Formats: sequence, structure tokens, C-alpha cells
Amino acid sequence: MHAFVLGGSKNIGYYAAVRLLEQGTSVTFFLRNTSVFDKDAKIQSYIKDGKAHLVKGDGTVLEDVQKGWEAALEYGNGTLDLVLFSIGGLPNISLTKGLVLATPDLCTRSLLNLFRTMPATLRAPGAQPRLIAITSRGITPSSHATLPAALRAFYSLLLGAPHDDKYGAERVLAHCLGVPWTQPDVKPTILPAGWEAFPGLPAEGGFRRILIVRPSLLTDGECLGDKGPKNGKAPYKAVAGEVDGGYTVSRRDIAHFIVQEALPNWDQWEGKGACVVY
Ligand SMILES: NC(=O)c1ccc[n+]([C@@H]2O[C@H](COP(=O)([O-])OP(=O)(O)OC[C@H]3O[C@@H](n4cnc5c(N)ncnc54)[C@H](OP(=O)(O)O)[C@@H]3O)[C@@H](O)[C@H]2O)c1
Repeated sequence: MHAFVLGGSKNIGYYAAVRLLEQGTSVTFFLRNTSVFDKDAKIQSYIKDGKAHLVKGDGTVLEDVQKGWEAALEYGNGTLDLVLFSIGGLPNISLTKGLVLATPDLCTRSLLNLFRTMPATLRAPGAQPRLIAITSRGITPSSHATLPAALRAFYSLLLGAPHDDKYGAERVLAHCLGVPWTQPDVKPTILPAGWEAFPGLPAEGGFRRILIVRPSLLTDGECLGDKGPKNGKAPYKAVAGEVDGGYTVSRRDIAHFIVQEALPNWDQWEGKGACVVY
């Protein structure tokens, strides 16, 4: 099995990629900086064994993403089973605007680029790789309403810009999945008018092998998933659709959910949006 991981230099993408490598899946990492693993003995040993491959590129640059796909297909000897998209940006603090992103449409544009440049051999329904994209819990108006009160206030006050971008990503994913969009339009600064007709973008409903993962507020805590249930209680809740309660979840547990829960039970998760919370 071969995986193409965009956003795997650190955190969720990295933890998931390491789990995949440990299971014997080979991985092509799409990275802005291919020196990022120079001092990472674990990844270095996978590189040496021909199991991990690094390709340089920026998700916001169409040609880079196209080259990423080509490299992933080449390293996978013509097959590609999984695409993991966990690209995100570190926001800066602005006194007037809350948290702002240097590239306000980072996730939306990178995801559009990913779909637009998908190789022809992977487009037919029977040939599509599984695609997992990370967005966030509580970004559509209807899911925002289900957040615990304190989190709702926090999101509204501080996370407008990052969530505008994730909202755009959700819109692109809904298009590919063929799920009707009943929410307000995405801001044109995030998703420009006419985006549905961008060359290369699959037709509405043209790519359905997608799982959207929507974590709650992320922490750098340990992986509870590896410890299993405690007093009969699951280490985290993963629910298709909306979930009650739950403020946080660790990045390591999101990686655990992706590799240990969602991939082995793909039929249960395909086409869904999974909220993952404690
Ligand atoms: N913070 C939260 O509470 C929260 C909650 C829910 C969802 N999320 C979202 O969940 C996702 C994963 O979270 P995380 O903590 O694992 O993210 P993260 O640590 O911010 O990692 C983001 C990844 O995206 C890469 N990246 C950024 N810009 C790129 C570009 N232009 N081209 C290619 N790669 C680029 C980064 O690479 P570099 O090393 O080059 O920077 C890094 O590998 C993110 O989208 C995040 O916003 C966050």
C-alpha cells in the first residue's frame, strides 16, 4: 500500500504517516522543506529502506501539487491507495481581527489544487484512492451551534479567519462528494467566483472516496487510543455528523483515529464527516 501525505512534516500528518509506515505502508511526503526530517532517525531509516519518499512543494502552487501526485504515483509503482491532507497554517494574533492566517485561503486553495491535478489514472470511480482531509469541528453555522458554550464563544472571537478557510475546504469537499450545500456561500476571497469550473476539478459528485475528519480543539497530549477503553469508556468519541460536548482532542488521537479506526473500517466512514472529541 502507498500513501501520499500532504501536511506530514509535523503533528497529525506526521503521526499518521509514522503509524502507516510502521504498518508497512510506504509514504510519499509532500513538503515545503525536505530537510525537515534530517535529524529524524525513524524517518531516515524508512527513507534508507525505500519506504518513505520526500517531494518538495507548496500546496498553494498548482504545478507543485501536480508534481507531488506524479512523484507519489511513481514511488507507489503506479498505484496509490491513500491520500492524507492535513495542511494548515499557524495563525498570527491581531488585536482587531483575532487569529489571522498569512495565506487566508491556504487549505481551500491547496485542496482545490489537489483535486484539480489528480492524475487521470486515479479519477475513475473504481480507481480512486481513499482521501482523508482534516478540517475542523464547528465551522458551518449548523455545527457551530452544537459546540459547548465556552468553545462557541472562543471560536467566534478568535478563529474567524482559520475557520473561513476550513469552510472553503468543506465547500470543495461537498462538491466532490456531491453533497448539496445548504449553508451560506464561502467568502469570495477564499473561494473565487466560478471555482466549480476550474480546469481539472472533478464534476459535482465525481469523487466520493472521501472521509472528512473534524477534530475539536487540538492539544499536544498523549495518545489515549493506544491505551484502549478505560473503565469501559472509549478513549475518544468519533461520530459521523455532529457530536455532543467535547472540548478537545489530541493530535496523536486524531492520527490514531485515522489509521487504527477509519482506514480498517473504511466502508463505515466513506463519504462521512467524522467529529472526533474527548
Ligand atoms: N489547532 C486546532 O485546534 C485545530 C482544530 C481542528 C483542526 N485543525 C486543523 O487540523 C489540521 C492539522 O492540524 P495540525 O496541528 O497537524 O497542523 P500543523 O501542525 O499546523 O501542520 C500543518 C502542516 O501543513 C503544512 N503546510 C502549511 N502550509 C503549507 C503549504 N503552503 N504547502 C504545503 N504544506 C503546508 C505544514 O508544513 P510546514 O512544516 O512546511 O509548515 C505542516 O506539515 C490543520 O489544518 C489545522 O488547522 C486545527
